[in-house]
Amino acid sequence: MTAAPVFDKGLANTIAAETQASFIDGAKGVLEYVGYDIDSLARNSTFEETVFLLWNRRLPNAAELATLAAELRAEYDLPEAVWQMIRDTPRTAHPMHMLRTLVSSLGMFDREADDNSPEANWRKSVRLLAKTPTIVANFDRHRKGKPLVRPDATMDMATNFLNMLNGARPTVAVAKALDVCLILHADHGLNASTFAARVTISTLSDMYSAITTAIGTLKGPLHGGANEEVMHMLNEIGTMDNVEPYIKERLARKDRIMGFGHRVYKAYDPRAGYLKTFAKQIATDTGNQGLYEMSTKIEDIMKAEVAAKGIYPNVDFFSATTYHSIGIDLDIFTCMFAISRISGWTAHCMEQLAANRLIRPMAEYTGPHGLSYVVMSAR
Ligand code: SDX
Repeated sequence: MTAAPVFDKGLANTIAAETQASFIDGAKGVLEYVGYDIDSLARNSTFEETVFLLWNRRLPNAAELATLAAELRAEYDLPEAVWQMIRDTPRTAHPMHMLRTLVSSLGMFDREADDNSPEANWRKSVRLLAKTPTIVANFDRHRKGKPLVRPDATMDMATNFLNMLNGARPTVAVAKALDVCLILHADHGLNASTFAARVTISTLSDMYSAITTAIGTLKGPLHGGANEEVMHMLNEIGTMDNVEPYIKERLARKDRIMGFGHRVYKAYDPRAGYLKTFAKQIATDTGNQGLYEMSTKIEDIMKAEVAAKGIYPNVDFFSATTYHSIGIDLDIFTCMFAISRISGWTAHCMEQLAANRLIRPMAEYTGPHGLSYVVMSAR
């Protein structure tokens, strides 16, 4: 006998899956990946090591990490047809529309696309994670009329991405900043895009379909699209003097201030805390301290106005200043989120398949019953 169904709008109070990938304590502002606090990982780990942790639920030894790094680098390149798709993509396409489309296309060139064995899904997870930076960086070059840059398998993922994006090797500091951003965005419980991916793979569809679903879901401004909106907001505010009137006017209109609030955190998002420190350093180093100062002023006003409601900066607020400071265009910010989160999405898909049950909730029917059909002549 199953329990009586309960309507839980937005599933805010519903546990829909078990996971060992990440743990969030929203009241205390704690995030752990497989038991390791996000702050310790951001300080000590690398993105490739974090990927191994999420996929294997333990930290690698040196040989295992080298093996994963080699597997990823061997898959950086794209099928020639996908290179051509980049060249054929409208230069005016939003990068998230492009990403959703080209990641989906990768499935057509993968002979294992519909093989849901753990081994095949591991290899597809490597391909998806490795190829997405190549797609994003080269679309940005394509839309700017620059020659495409092939990936360099001697570089780690963050360095390789920036090398393709800018056509030049980044500084160690800038590459490190991106690597930390990738660590911080890798996984986050059953957020909307991860849930969407799990729903898709629970039907025994394929990993490419699940990741395409997740990219489309992440795009929304209430989710991963918020970082781009934060940058739009900072540009719209323009000056320090305009911060207070701008924010207070929007709060009075009950507008959502992008980069603040969270379904789970009712305390400071620990990722935002780390990114704030990072943003200050990288913004100062790159002459963008005005953005950082404007951001902290927004934070001060929001703290006074809405912190009592449990509304604090989330991961998207300071990532905007960080990405801008390392030279990434604002409409690419959510692609950066996706590049990182493919590691978490694939981890969850592999978990879902290991103990699968089709995800199919109920809906409360609120329409009429028992109507008689009326022929057209009588309508
Ligand atoms: C991400 O889920 C995840 O884990 C996501 C993520 C991940 O790593 O995957 O952490 C990444 O998506 C972070 C969130 C990025 N989104 C934004 O920054 C968009 C702005 N934030 C809001 O839209 C909102 O906070 C949500 C969508 C994130 C959460 O909304 P909820 O849980 O549905 O809460 P709600 O919209 O019902 O708001 C509750 C109250 C309301 O006030 P009252 O009507 O009760 O008086 O809080 C207020 C809201 O008005 N509120 C805000 C606010 N967020 C909530 N008020 C002003 N600004 C905001 N940002």
